[in-house]
This record gives sequence, C-alpha cells and structure tokens, in this order.
Amino acid sequence: MDNSLPADIRPAAPDSARAEETDFGIREISVEETLALRHSVLWPDLPLSAVRLPDDDSGRHFGAFSSGSPTPIAVISIFSEPLPIDKPDATASKAVRFRKFACRQDLQGRGIGTALLRRIFWVAAAEMGAQAVWCDARTSSLPWYQRRGMCPFGDRFFKGPVEYVRMSIMADDALAEGTREYATRS
Ligand SMILES: CC(C)(COP(=O)(O)OP(=O)(O)OC[C@H]1O[C@@H](n2cnc3c(N)ncnc32)[C@H](O)[C@@H]1OP(=O)(O)O)[C@@H](O)C(=O)NCCC(=O)NCCS
Repeated sequence: MDNSLPADIRPAAPDSARAEETDFGIREISVEETLALRHSVLWPDLPLSAVRLPDDDSGRHFGAFSSGSPTPIAVISIFSEPLPIDKPDATASKAVRFRKFACRQDLQGRGIGTALLRRIFWVAAAEMGAQAVWCDARTSSLPWYQRRGMCPFGDRFFKGPVEYVRMSIMADDALAEGTREYATRS
C-alpha cells in the first residue's frame, strides 16, 4: 500500500491481504460438519433435519475454519446441476449450483464468505469443468452477489416467507474471481 497517497485515493488493499487479517483457512468437509451452521444461520426455526438436502451425499462441502476452531465458521455446498430452464441464454451444458451458504453471525463482514465463494467458483470451473455456477439467492443478498460477479436471471419466487432470485456466473468470470482467492489459502 502506498501510504504517501491520501487515504481516499490510495488503491484498495488486495483481497488476499484483507483476508489475512482474519486468520482463517478453507478446506473440504463432510456434510455432517455443515449442518449446525446451516441450521443456526439459515433456518433456525426449522428442525435440524430440515437443513439436510436429499442431494447432500452427491455434493461437495467446504468450510472456513479459524485457527484452533474444530467447527466451521462458514460453510457452502456445491452440486452438479444444470442451469434452470428459465435462464434465457442457458448455453452452459455443465453447471454447478451452490447451496446452503452461511457464515456465523458474529463473524460476518470480515471477508470470510467472499473467500469461500471464490474457492467454490474455482473448484467448480477449474476442477469440475463447470461452464456456469448458479444459485437461488435470497433477494436481500442480490447486491452482495453482484459485487462478486454474479448476475440475476428469471423471475423472483418465494420459499416460505423468504424471497429469492436466481443468479449465475460464467466459467471465465468464476475463474477470475476464484484466482483472486485460491492462491492464498489451502
Ligand atoms: C452471505 C454471507 C454468507 C456472506 O458472508 P460474509 O463473511 O458476511 O461476507 P464478506 O465478509 O465476505 O462480505 C461482507 C462485506 O464485508 C466487507 N469486508 C469487511 N472486511 C473484509 C475483509 N477483511 N476482506 C474482505 N471483505 C471484507 C466486504 O467488503 C463485504 O462488503 P460488500 O458486500 O459491501 O463488498 C453471510 O453474510 C451470511 O451468512 N448471511 C446470512 C445467510 C445468507 O443470507 N446466506 C446466503 C443465502 S443466498
């Protein structure tokens, strides 16, 4: 960082440098390790069994861990699943969907979710050969995903009381986002 410049025109610190400040790592985990956090952050009013997905055994699951913590502080799960038909330009034959993305409330806003999302972008595009990555996003999170390269498509819809919109990112953009994070963590 060039501290000779006034703060308002200094270039922003790279994401990797900002993420270092929070002292966490990312690794692949079992679905069982995701359940408590999925439940407490996403659907605390439903029984724990409600956050287990029928497809969980065919998915891959990733968690962020702070040093010394045996339980994840953020989780996300990915599944090979084609783009929904309501995407008008759904040309990607192979796509990866992410689901059940959650960061512990007291640790949100520290870059952990961004790092985890970028990791699965990388895994989906570089390792699984996905041409697109997509999700059902809570409408409240739409701007957050847009700032990470995703675009909304299709009609909005509800799951219970929560409004959702579908969002996607194509492989080249997912790789570019993923590259920003992958090299800095194991
Ligand atoms: C959505 C969610 C997973 C994001 O995780 P998170 O760890 O809070 O996200 P981040 O910290 O990476 O990003 C939040 C903000 O913190 C900022 N931030 C603060 N410190 C940061 C740091 N050290 N490094 C990077 N970003 C940092 C980011 O700029 C970002 O702001 P922006 O969106 O205005 O750019 C999390 O908020 C969550 O669990 N929400 C509730 C459940 C939910 O809505 N899940 C998604 C369902 S679709």
